Amino acid sequence: MSKAGLFISFEGPDGSGKSTQISYLKEFFEEKGLDCVFTREPGGTEIGEKLRDVILDTHNYEMCDMTEALLYAASRAQHVSQVIQPALDEGKIVVCDRYVDSSVAYQGYGRQLGGDVVSAINDHAIMGCLPDVTFLIEIDPKDGKKRIKSSERDRLESEKLWFHKRVYKGYLEMAEKYPERIIVIDGTGSREEMRDEILGHVSRILKERGIL
Ligand SMILES: Nc1ncnc2c1ncn2[C@@H]1O[C@H](COP(=O)(O)OP(=O)(O)OP(=O)(O)O)[C@@H](O)[C@H]1O
Ligand SMILES: [Mg+2]
Repeated sequence: MSKAGLFISFEGPDGSGKSTQISYLKEFFEEKGLDCVFTREPGGTEIGEKLRDVILDTHNYEMCDMTEALLYAASRAQHVSQVIQPALDEGKIVVCDRYVDSSVAYQGYGRQLGGDVVSAINDHAIMGCLPDVTFLIEIDPKDGKKRIKSSERDRLESEKLWFHKRVYKGYLEMAEKYPERIIVIDGTGSREEMRDEILGHVSRILKERGIL
């Protein structure tokens, strides 16, 4: 599949600051008048949002791990074909709050289905549509968790700390495996320090691609 635009994803533990940084990036792109699409996973399409509700519903405690992995992949397949790939084909910038690395980290490492198994499932869902750059916000999951109110936690966020530690280990292993794609950002800095670092990278990439 051809890819003309620029695809950026944000990854990291719950409460690491992904949504906060994405809103800064949105302001930046709007200021520059760039054509962008902001989206999130699970969800991002009408069908995907329905799947998101099933995945994250705290009542669905019976869900087996493979069902969870396949539902995430199903939501992603819809998202890629309906939103992400068409936008990239039109030359737009796509910013996605969580993408395939989340599945590898949460289902592959957190649920222990295996990173390779979850990657293989997702290969069919994404059809080669990988981000050009992924910002991985590095923060101890314990500290990220403290930032989210317990009443607002979904089924995955409510998991035990050891689950989130395995997820985190998965993220760090992926950062080592794909250094050309994944940029690690220190999540313990202030919101502004993180913003400046991310915008520095984005400006450089936009210049390299002749977009800015
Ligand atoms: N650098 C920071 N320092 C301290 N608090 C922060 C920082 N960045 C974000 N926060 C706060 O932490 C909370 C979680 O941030 P945010 O929603 O951006 O995280 P997230 O990674 O999107 O979380 P989730 O995975 O739950 O969607 C928010 O209340 C936010 O204001
Ligand atoms: Mg968020």
